[in-house]
Amino acid sequence: MTLRITVIGTGYLGATHAACMAELGFEVLGLDIDPEKIATLAAGKIPMYEPGLAELLVKHVPGHPGSSGRLRFTTSYEEVADFGDVHFLCTNTPQKKGEFAADMSYVDAALDSLAPHLKRPTLVVGKSTVPVGSANRLAVRLAELAPVGAAAELAWNPEFLREGFAVGDTLHPDRLVVGVRSERAEALLREVYATPVAEGVPFVVTDFATAELVKAAANSFLATKISFINAMAEVCESAGADVVQLSKALSFDERIGGKFLNAGVGFGGGCLPKDIRAFMARAGELGADQALTFLREVDSINMRRRSRMVELAREQCGGGFLGRRVAVLGAAFKPNSDDIRDSPALNVAAQIQLQGAQVSVYDPKAMDNARKMFPGLTYADSPLEAAEGAHVVLHLTEWQEFRDLDPAVLGTVVAERRILDGRNILDDAKWRAAGWSYRAMGRPT
Ligand code: UGA
Repeated sequence: MTLRITVIGTGYLGATHAACMAELGFEVLGLDIDPEKIATLAAGKIPMYEPGLAELLVKHVPGHPGSSGRLRFTTSYEEVADFGDVHFLCTNTPQKKGEFAADMSYVDAALDSLAPHLKRPTLVVGKSTVPVGSANRLAVRLAELAPVGAAAELAWNPEFLREGFAVGDTLHPDRLVVGVRSERAEALLREVYATPVAEGVPFVVTDFATAELVKAAANSFLATKISFINAMAEVCESAGADVVQLSKALSFDERIGGKFLNAGVGFGGGCLPKDIRAFMARAGELGADQALTFLREVDSINMRRRSRMVELAREQCGGGFLGRRVAVLGAAFKPNSDDIRDSPALNVAAQIQLQGAQVSVYDPKAMDNARKMFPGLTYADSPLEAAEGAHVVLHLTEWQEFRDLDPAVLGTVVAERRILDGRNILDDAKWRAAGWSYRAMGRPT
C-alpha cells in the first residue's frame, strides 16, 4: 500500500513539500493552525508568490477538473495522526526577538500537538532548520507524549530549497540528507524519496546531529561566499578595481565556482541572515563559539553593504537627501519571490526615506507585502512611475523586468539620469549609451 504522508505547517516549505509529495504519487494531508491559509490552499491558491506551486496544487487538490485529488488540507491534529504513516514537521524557526537564537516554539508546539494522537507505529520527520541537538530533544519528547511510545520514531531531513525555485528544488534536489536512528526509519524515507533517488539524487544517511548541522553549514557557507565577494568589492572600490571582472576570473577555478559570487547590496531573506546568527548562538551554548566567530564578520560585511548603498545614493544626490527624490527598483529580498523578510532593498529604501528623501518603490510582485511592512514609503505601479522626477534610481532586486528596461525611455521621466546598480547585473554600456551616469558597487566609476 502506498504511504500516506502528512505535512505539518503549510508555509513556504510545507506547502511546497505537500504539493510535491502529491506529485510523487502519495496521498497527502497538509495541516496548518491558520484556517484561512488552509482554505486558500484547499482552493488551489497560494498565499505567496512562488512560480509553479499554484499549478501543482490545482493538479492535486480535489475539486479541479482532472485533479488527482491526492492532496487535502485540515486544521485537525487528530485527523492528521489517524491518516499518516509519515509526518513531516515543516513549521518555521524565526530569529528570537532581541537575540541571535532560533525560536523553537512553533516546532515544539507542532510536536506537542501531534504526539498525543499517535496511536500506531509512525515516523515523524523534522524538516525545519533547527539548532543542533533539537532532534535528540524532540525524539525523547515524542516517545514520552505518544500513546504508542517509542514506536513513534523521529528522523531529521533538512530542506535545502530556494525560494523562487521551490518546486524544482524539492522534486529534483541536489541531495537528500536523512538523520535516522533505525533501519526502519531509513527504509521509510527511502520509500518516500524513491523517485528522486532512482533519478540519481544522492541519499546521505547520517545521525541526527550531523543532519541538523549539514543545513546550518550549507547556509553558512553560502552566506560566507556572498560576504567574501562583497569584502572583495570593498577592496576593489578602494583600489579602483572591478569586482565583476574579479568574480568572473575566480569562477573559472572549479574549486571556487561562480555561483553565489555576485557582489552587491548583500543577502537577505528569511533564511541566511537568521540561520548564521542562530548557528553562532548554538555554537556558543555548546562551547564552540570560537569556531564560528568568522560568521560575525560575514554578518557585518553583509550589513555594511546596505549602509554603503545609502552612502552612494547620498553622494549621487549631491551630498544630502533633503528635497531629493529617489526611485527604488525592487522590494523583494531576491527576484522571483514576493518575500520581503530582511530585504536589503526595503532596508535601504527606509534608511534613505528616514534621512529626508522622498522614496518611491516599485517591485513586480512584493508590493502588497512591502506596503504592509513599510507603510511610510511611497509605492508606484511601474518602474516609470517610480522614476518620475527622481534624482537617482537605485536597482536593488534583480528582476528580469529591470534588466529589460529601456534606459532611453526611463531617461525621459527622471530629473537626473543617474543609476546605482546594487546587484551589478545591468548592462552598463546600454545605460551609459542612453546618457546615464552608471555606478555600481565595487566597480570603477
Ligand atoms: C537559502 C539557501 O540558498 C537555500 O539552499 C536554503 O534552503 C534556504 O535559504 C533556506 O534555508 O530555507 P533563499 O533564502 O531562498 O535560500 O535565497 P538565496 O537564493 O540563497 O538568496 C539569499 C540572498 O542572497 C538573496 O538576498 C540574494 O539576493 C543574495 N545573493 C545571492 C547575493 O547577494 N549574491 C549572490 O551571489 C547570491
